Amino acid sequence: MNITLSVIKADIGGWVGHSASHPDVLAKAEEYMAKAKKGGLLVDYHVTNCGDDLQLIMTHQHGEESERIHKLAWDTFIAGTEIARALKLHGAGQDLLSDSFSGNVKGMGPGVAEMEIEERAAETIIIFMADKTSSGAWNMPLYKMFADPFNTIGLVIAANMHTGFAFEVHDVKEHKKVTFNAPEEIYDLLIFIGAPSRYAVKAVYHRETKEIAAVSSTQRLSLIAGRYVGKDDPVCVVRSQGQFPAVGEVLEPFTLAASVEGWMRGSHHGPLMPVSVADATPSRFDGPPRVICLGFQLSGGKLVGPRDMFADKSFDNARQQANDVADYLRRHGPFEPHRLPLEEMEYTTMPQVMKKLEGRFVDQG
Ligand code: F6R
Ligand code: MG
Ligand code: MG
Repeated sequence: MNITLSVIKADIGGWVGHSASHPDVLAKAEEYMAKAKKGGLLVDYHVTNCGDDLQLIMTHQHGEESERIHKLAWDTFIAGTEIARALKLHGAGQDLLSDSFSGNVKGMGPGVAEMEIEERAAETIIIFMADKTSSGAWNMPLYKMFADPFNTIGLVIAANMHTGFAFEVHDVKEHKKVTFNAPEEIYDLLIFIGAPSRYAVKAVYHRETKEIAAVSSTQRLSLIAGRYVGKDDPVCVVRSQGQFPAVGEVLEPFTLAASVEGWMRGSHHGPLMPVSVADATPSRFDGPPRVICLGFQLSGGKLVGPRDMFADKSFDNARQQANDVADYLRRHGPFEPHRLPLEEMEYTTMPQVMKKLEGRFVDQG
């Protein structure tokens, strides 16, 4: 049975500030999703939020980039925005960059990760959703899951994974893509994905079967909009078990609170903290960046779950590490490496300041 899993998300208003989503907005989304399921457009759905991002997890049989599914998501975001406006939530409709829907939400602001799969006898699906960071945040975790034997022992000792995985990498500035085969091309792969502000892993494929293993959202809103409207707060869908990494191998990369771009005003480096859904409320200096993880078994497209995968004591050390790293980085205040390099900051006063100083910059002689 072919099933498409679509995760479409947008920040349509924050409560309070940019720290969370309002229950009324979530309830409105639930209402739209329930109606679409009843009408047969969706097989199943789950609505959640990570910080101020509303997440629509949908299963259906209309394939990737389906106009009907994207329109459903768009209409849901519009309806949620109306609630956000009525409550005067902060940044109502922030990610809806266009006034009208034209067939596909890609490039309009919302983030999208979709995969069409033939459901296996047991189809384990792991969905990561992050707030206050950008799509390159998945590069290191995806590398570890699918190419690093120190993370994924299955690459070494499981016959159905031993041929490795292929990584589709997108250049988010030049809109180009390239595919690398792991393990033999990992050095070439790393020269690119080690620079996550420019290169992001869009998808991973099982080399032997060519099956999709993972897909992420790689939108960069600042580039789409031509101005700052928020880090894209990405999502990533990973298939697990069997010929794919086991659940524990998929989650293991998040035991390191790796430094990612985002945090306050999308202009800082900060530790990515793995948390339960309830704890996805970035409040300290608008952060630190959060990642939540929901696990499902698919049954004829039905989402059996979710299990809140980071609501587990074994991630306590990563959370502690994230808080310690946050303390350390915060003491740098407006200095790098806490603050992002000039060209990566999403807020800047540099042009005005430079203009004001015109004439005062003179040759050093
Ligand atoms: C970062 C983020 C927040 C805001 C900050 C200022 O992704 O969403 O840190 O950038 O709270 O927000 P505005 O400019 O909306 O007042
Ligand atoms: Mg926001
Ligand atoms: Mg957000």
